[in-house]
Amino acid sequence: MNKRDFVRTLGGASLAMVFGDDLWASYAGRPAATLAQDEAFWAGIRRHYRLTTDYINLENGYFLMQSEPVLEAFIGHVREINLSASYYMRTRQYDDKLAARKQLAAMAGCSHEELIITRNTTESLDTVIAGFDWKPGDEAVMAAQDYGAMLDQFKLQARRHGMVNRVVSLPVDPRSDDEIVQLYSSAITPKTRLLMVCHMVNITGQILPVRKICDMAHARGVPVMVDGAHAFAQLDFRIPDLDCDYYGASLHKWLGVPLGAGILYVRKDRIPGLWPIYGDASVPDDDIRKLNHTGTHPVHTDLTIQDAIAFHQNIGIERKEARLRHLQHYWTSRVRGEANVILNTPADPARSCAIANVGIAGMKPGDLSKTLLEKYRIWTVAIDGAGVHGARITPHLFTSTTELDALVAALKELARA
Ligand SMILES: Cc1ncc(COP(=O)(O)O)c(C=O)c1O
Repeated sequence: MNKRDFVRTLGGASLAMVFGDDLWASYAGRPAATLAQDEAFWAGIRRHYRLTTDYINLENGYFLMQSEPVLEAFIGHVREINLSASYYMRTRQYDDKLAARKQLAAMAGCSHEELIITRNTTESLDTVIAGFDWKPGDEAVMAAQDYGAMLDQFKLQARRHGMVNRVVSLPVDPRSDDEIVQLYSSAITPKTRLLMVCHMVNITGQILPVRKICDMAHARGVPVMVDGAHAFAQLDFRIPDLDCDYYGASLHKWLGVPLGAGILYVRKDRIPGLWPIYGDASVPDDDIRKLNHTGTHPVHTDLTIQDAIAFHQNIGIERKEARLRHLQHYWTSRVRGEANVILNTPADPARSCAIANVGIAGMKPGDLSKTLLEKYRIWTVAIDGAGVHGARITPHLFTSTTELDALVAALKELARA
């Protein structure tokens, strides 16, 4: 960690300003895995979030609340846009969006000419799925544990064009990456035109071996679209490392951008093959902006992307991923193996990060979530489908181990009841 890294601004304050120069100098030199277990350090980060006292929020997978510096910046952008109104839209809007796009592309490790800012993962991936020139009998491969909106978009393509969807079902605890790769491979036929895979499955938190799946699919001539809704800004990676063809993510999830921002990456050579859903005849066929003509939208959200990136990069993706993985293992390791506790998340630490899913034998997921909220004041979400039955538990950087102790105690009590 060099000085330049920790003097970058964090909504006006760098981590050195948060902790004091001396304390930060001692933190900055520590490995991410050690820092992940340092409650005093993370209590310092927690102070940047305004948290409700009504319940412990362990449902941060839907979207991430903004930290106070990012929220303040956002409110400032709302005021600024409200003041300059159409003058802003007609003068600075496009330059500002290009600047944010370039920053995101740098973070993703790709060219900005391969990335656009969308409103969310749904828009990003549906743009790809519906942008294909499907012919009757064409096939696509996906998993039952993929996100519903994308599965629905494939179903609509099947209805409209007579294409065929082949759906595999993912084991939570695979023996090896190869088992997963083989599963996807077994669904590919000479008619397969697209394979969709989650970088991180939202209902179980399972991380999939995306690079190996891409290598296998490419060897068989099949392009791969990755659903990165939960991976971008949670996991330390760059999109080109995956060698995928398309990647979509939401920025309001792990990056903490205000609601309504996402990215779509399309590898340069794949751009001409996609047909835009939003009309714009003026953009050349090989220019990714042809997919981005969504009309008037909340530009103040786009403007806050730079502030959220600054906050995120001050903490650092390596530290963030290590802390999130630690938090998940902190609670799962205390209940794994307990009678009546069912963990629907891989035991192998490399196959999951912040998100995990837990069920209690004999209890419906809806009842479990309801009881956690009403009796223990812990907010979670029930998952009851695609072979996964339990409450999804998603801590974030502001989650303390004391809060997770409360979850562990509640689960143990429910498991014994
Ligand atoms: C795996 C996955 N894909 C896609 C989405 C859709 O994200 P958004 O609603 O931001 O479009 C989600 C949302 O939770 C998700 O978990």
